[in-house]
Amino acid sequence: MSASYEVRGNVAVITLDNPPVNGLGYDTRRGITDGLARALADAAVAAVVITGAGKAFSGGADIREFGSPKALAEPNLLSVIKALEASTKPVVAAINGVCMGGGLELALGCHYRVAASGVAVALPEVKIGLIPGAGGTQRLPRVIGVEHALNMIVSGEPVKSELLAAIPGQTLFERVVDADVVGVAVALAEEMAAHHAGGAALPLVRNLKASHPNADAYFQFARNTVRAMAKNFPAPAKCVDAVESALKRRFDDGMAYEREIFTALMFTPECKALRHAFLGERAASKIPDVPADTPVRNIAKVAVIGAGTMGGGISMNFLNAGIPVMLLEMKQDALDRGVATIRKNYESRVKKGKLKQEKYDKTMALLSTTLSYDDIQDADLVIEAVFEEMGVKEKVFKALDEVMKPGAILASNTSTLDVDQIAAFTKRPQDVVGMHFFSPANVMKLLEVVRGAKTANDVLATVMKLAKTIRKTAVVSGVCDGFIGNRMIEQYSRQAGFLLEEGCTPQQVDKAVEKFGFAMGPFRMGDLAGNDIGWAIRKRRYQEKPGLRYSKTADLLCELGRFGQKTGAGWYDYVPGKRDAVPSELVVKMIADHRKELGITPRKISDDEIVHRLVYSLVNEGARILEDGIASKASDIDMVYLTGYGFPLWRGGPMCYADTQGLFNVVQAMNRFAANPHDDASFWQPAPLLSKLVAEGRPLI
Ligand code: NAI
Repeated sequence: MSASYEVRGNVAVITLDNPPVNGLGYDTRRGITDGLARALADAAVAAVVITGAGKAFSGGADIREFGSPKALAEPNLLSVIKALEASTKPVVAAINGVCMGGGLELALGCHYRVAASGVAVALPEVKIGLIPGAGGTQRLPRVIGVEHALNMIVSGEPVKSELLAAIPGQTLFERVVDADVVGVAVALAEEMAAHHAGGAALPLVRNLKASHPNADAYFQFARNTVRAMAKNFPAPAKCVDAVESALKRRFDDGMAYEREIFTALMFTPECKALRHAFLGERAASKIPDVPADTPVRNIAKVAVIGAGTMGGGISMNFLNAGIPVMLLEMKQDALDRGVATIRKNYESRVKKGKLKQEKYDKTMALLSTTLSYDDIQDADLVIEAVFEEMGVKEKVFKALDEVMKPGAILASNTSTLDVDQIAAFTKRPQDVVGMHFFSPANVMKLLEVVRGAKTANDVLATVMKLAKTIRKTAVVSGVCDGFIGNRMIEQYSRQAGFLLEEGCTPQQVDKAVEKFGFAMGPFRMGDLAGNDIGWAIRKRRYQEKPGLRYSKTADLLCELGRFGQKTGAGWYDYVPGKRDAVPSELVVKMIADHRKELGITPRKISDDEIVHRLVYSLVNEGARILEDGIASKASDIDMVYLTGYGFPLWRGGPMCYADTQGLFNVVQAMNRFAANPHDDASFWQPAPLLSKLVAEGRPLI
């Protein structure tokens, strides 16, 4: 049973005990109802206290039960709450720590609530595309008022217990205390047992009335605001409907309405995508052949080699987490430039009021610089971010091998080079790993952790743990050209090129992709990142594979020196000082001329075809990445795209999207694309994994 029972004086104390956050899984729910039944049957018990073991009261549903029959097995949470409400002995919730989702709904079913101060209280269901499903939308407005409740429900954000207790007229918390919340709850339970002994009815939140002085206008306003802010997510607008019914319907009808909405949302593709992303984030940190209890190395000091674009951003991640960083460069002026950029970044945050001066000073004090390898030898982790040339990497890694203390982790931020080859420059390849950050490295969530053939398990485990400390979503990738993300984006870019040749303008492609939900279409993205980067990759790639078909349009653009925003012109024109992409007549003509040279008669291509060719090119390459064992699960690929490439969250990533479309349909579309003479038929051969899944009628995830 994941809850314990003890009697203190005449009060039974039920303690939820299901680490890490006392999730309300089947055993915990049973623990509550069994404990309650025991308390009710015991004449020596006059009242009940429910609390949580460890740091949480309850974090809500047990995510390990998601999708299993156990999640709904009786007693489900609604039945547990009904049992609490029906108790003839007072039930007091002693909210000792985190109180979220079902945990808060459980507390709202108790007769009284006492909370410790500083407790994070939330109904976060909206973040996985749902609304609270066990009375949260009906009970919370009755105790803290409609507006406060709706704000919490629609944002899913936690609010501290003492702030909630300060809401005028609130009946959520009887008391908020700084210490011994269980002791205070037990005392209150005794007091209430005496108070109600004469037969006075126990207070139930359901009997309170939710009201608002200007309800219709308020809900109209809320609806408009929410629709504008969350247009691709159905749940937030439904939060408004549910809370409105707390005010306008009888309690039981409101509960039925909440359930109806909850069930309908559960089957939406957006909810599926959000739950997939939520679980995918957690799954990414688990590596199939690296046991969870693998010991990790202590990382107290970090060194970064190269103070350029990436080195500076990478350093900031560690400084932000309070970990000292030493930056190493070849020349003093490069160091000075690097440090100045870091300062500028922090100072703009100070100016905007997002960072306190004092914190800034403390953070900068953690940064030191050097021109000598001798000064970094005792670092626990060193990350190399020098020029992307094997010769330069070789020099750096040989130097590191000479000086670094035994057990130090040697990481490379290379985006295209072979990590195994880099590891072979050292006599300790087991300590070498890729840490592929994305630009700007202090902002982007994604970190591809590149596992070399010889990378030790404890190195991987350490880097994955460290990623959490610096708030990155880390995904493990095997060694291959481009790793997971860039290997896939290369196919996407090739498709974008073919689309231009066949009749699209850059603007049309970007618009279709942005309408689909990407933060940026491929051509705007190219202009931002610098078209010369792709140019350099293509030169190498098509030398290696001369038979590979690709569109030369992007090369022609680069030959004109149109590298993107940094040169003031790319696929689009740019007005100095502005980032707006202005369609360029010159580029449209350049594409048309090239098309003519190729003898292609332009055709009108639908937005659907644009999107499917681009997204399915990601899916097909993603499937090959799975087959090759570069990614260990489809959800890892989705996490890469959601956190590093601006893939729309509500579509769950390319692999989740393919499942939503139906793999049968995806493969059919690929076969159609393969028949297009202007495309690359060999690329559109569905990856064997996809064909196999279709034959077996199974999804990718
Ligand atoms: P960058 O050119 O801005 O910075 C490189 C820095 O390394 C320069 O300051 C240079 O002085 C320094 N450096 C060169 N050789 C050195 C040596 N032997 N010892 C010490 N310092 C040395 O380059 P960037 O963009 O920061 O890229 C660095 C690495 O990060 C490359 O491997 C690149 O492929 C990778 N990367 C770049 C991304 C980007 O978007 N720029 C994204 C992900 C990875």
